Amino acid sequence: MTEKLWQGRFEQPTNKQVEEYTASIHFDSRLYRYDIEGSIAHCRMLGECNIISHEDASLIVETLGQILREIERGQVDLSSSQEDIHMAIEQRLIQKIGEVGGKLHTARSRNDQICLDMRMYLRDVILQCRALVLEVQKALVHVAEQNMGVIMPGFTHLQHAQPVLLSHHMMAYYEMFLRDDERLQGCYKRTNVLPLGSAALAGTTFPIDMEYTARYLKFDGVVSNSMDAVSDRDYLIEFNATAAILMMHVSRMAEELILWSTKEFAFIEISDAFCTGSSIMPQKKNPDVPELMRGKTARVYGNLMALLTLTKALPLAYNRDLQEDKEPVFDTVDTVMSTLRLLARLLPEIRFHRGQMEEMAKEGFTLATDLADYLVRKGIPFRKAHHIVGQIVHHCIGEGKELDQIHLEVLKSFHKAFDADVFPFIQMNAVVDRRTSLGGTASSRVKEAMAKARADMERREAYLKS
Ligand code: ARG
Repeated sequence: MTEKLWQGRFEQPTNKQVEEYTASIHFDSRLYRYDIEGSIAHCRMLGECNIISHEDASLIVETLGQILREIERGQVDLSSSQEDIHMAIEQRLIQKIGEVGGKLHTARSRNDQICLDMRMYLRDVILQCRALVLEVQKALVHVAEQNMGVIMPGFTHLQHAQPVLLSHHMMAYYEMFLRDDERLQGCYKRTNVLPLGSAALAGTTFPIDMEYTARYLKFDGVVSNSMDAVSDRDYLIEFNATAAILMMHVSRMAEELILWSTKEFAFIEISDAFCTGSSIMPQKKNPDVPELMRGKTARVYGNLMALLTLTKALPLAYNRDLQEDKEPVFDTVDTVMSTLRLLARLLPEIRFHRGQMEEMAKEGFTLATDLADYLVRKGIPFRKAHHIVGQIVHHCIGEGKELDQIHLEVLKSFHKAFDADVFPFIQMNAVVDRRTSLGGTASSRVKEAMAKARADMERREAYLKS
């Protein structure tokens, strides 16, 4: 490493192993753009407030722009030059313009600088995540629309429960992702405040204008307490928690895709391009993509635990422990983004086996509730109707028949209220379409849900593009 910018009070050079152990440049270099943009804003503010001269401010701002371009062209080796990204950029600035460069760090500390970088980074990440969530939702709604009318067995306890529309099942995930998007919005709001000016922990004696810097960097506001600003990482934890919930939703869908592609279910087939083979079993076509989505969820949960544990019982204000917040966050960001991107591409690659789904929708006495409801409509109390249908199911098991296969005479022997109108009543489409309660699986409700989703997605898309 080159001469350190904080070397003044030290007699000995830093131990090599300590240098390696404390360095963060190999991961925080990913923040270079935010670090430079933040420094430009800070420097302009210093000039505006006459804390440094306008000429110095202009020179520093211009040089920071050059450094940004150098880095972007790969002309600066960030990997080993300095302890962290802040030092690397400041060092380069001083190399280029000499002592004047040393004025940039007036009225700030790396403690507030790193918070600024992370908040700026996270704002971008959140918007990108929101766009990807939207892509996944579009793919889901498309599947729902394309397969409108397909009936499948709905499950509870992974046992056949009642018939539902495949579209209703898909739209359930749409709703989950909608709440994930809301959580991302909430997180954005709390992230979008300027911490710069909090300096090391107590604020600064210089007459800075934090509101100027906030406006310049498009923050909605300024932090209220400098010690809070440099010590808390709740916005990062909140993002990771949001990501963990999002991945939990993804993992549930992934699990279903894996189950549904088994020979036992045979509800779907995922295209060859999105599956992989086995090195030993020539016949294999494996759903590795959803399996890894399910698997990568673990890493996002782990990162959340790491962040919570990192900050647990940590005294105020800044502690070097906090440097450890970055890798879990970056790993979560990379995992969530690549997963969502691939999920949006995977969904259109699924072929649904309508025949099999509809065949299975009838099996396992999925019409039993409706048979009981039939009796209820004829005035029999539900509890009694439930008992009678239980006996009919028992009878059917003995006969090896489904409920819609038994004769009216047999039904009548269980209760005299049964009549010929029972058969249209328990016909599969009728069973589904009668479930018109709010959020139910009736075609009419599902169509409403899809239309609402379309309108909502358009609104969000317009916002995210603006
Ligand atoms: N690399 C540090 C971090 O990520 C930046 C702040 C360092 N501050 C300090 N006083 N050493 O937290």
